[in-house]
Amino acid sequence: MTVRELEARLDALPRLGVGISAEYGVRPSIDPTAFAADHPGLIHFVEYGTDTDRGLDPTVLAWVDAGGAATYHFLDVNFEEPDDLDAAWMEETSGFVARLGAPWLCGDSGLWHFGPRDRGHGLLLPPILTVESAATTAASVGRLQDATGLCVLPENPPALYFLGDLHILDYFARVSEAADCGLLLDTAHLAIFQKARGGDPLDGLDGFPVDRIVEIHVAGGGEAETADGYRYIDDDHRADLHPDTWTILEWLLPRASRLKAVCYECEHNDVSDTIPIFRRLNDLFPTATP
Ligand SMILES: [Fe+2]
Repeated sequence: MTVRELEARLDALPRLGVGISAEYGVRPSIDPTAFAADHPGLIHFVEYGTDTDRGLDPTVLAWVDAGGAATYHFLDVNFEEPDDLDAAWMEETSGFVARLGAPWLCGDSGLWHFGPRDRGHGLLLPPILTVESAATTAASVGRLQDATGLCVLPENPPALYFLGDLHILDYFARVSEAADCGLLLDTAHLAIFQKARGGDPLDGLDGFPVDRIVEIHVAGGGEAETADGYRYIDDDHRADLHPDTWTILEWLLPRASRLKAVCYECEHNDVSDTIPIFRRLNDLFPTATP
């Protein structure tokens, strides 16, 4: 695929606006249908996270069957292990995407399970940040795009500790270049990475292909400290975003020319705590192009 063909493919994806995350069977969480009825105009899509073992749940089906937009977030594939992308998983996953009418497929790029894909094996380990791993991940993303016909958006995962010598932004720039794919940038995960590395929140973004970002995640996180004094940002999905996350988001928004969706991962909070954040996000990224 040429660069121009990829750009045209990403340009053709729908602009969704600001959305809310949801996951199978995780309670208590905000019901998007009730939220949208009580607070019109604040959420424009639901990002539904699940795996092939659990599938879709009544909450997200009620949302899409009432005409709501949804995206699909996998929680169960290891891009660094090519054998993990078996035909049955790809077929089942693309079936969920079709049922939701999701315009793309996304998810954290790392190791979602140790050993076989099975109950009790779930975890999320970050990728090894090397050129070789980026090439393997890109091959997996490319194969998944070819097999399903979907745009696949790999996401930078959360972790305090990474192996490998690449900056995580350079890793995903390589994946996008080799796989001809768009990207999902999680600004909270990036803030955690930058702080753990001892850098500035915006380090490395000037060389990142921001015009390939299709979706952004934001989520709350607070400063935490270990018993021996190590300070870090905890990816705890509280309502309030860390200031570094706002810094990254506000730097990206005027530059991410193909951005279609901003998902606020907040479903475990009290609705009232999320409202000011949703308002600010909608002001920053309106559904219709300004
Ligand atoms: Fe995320």
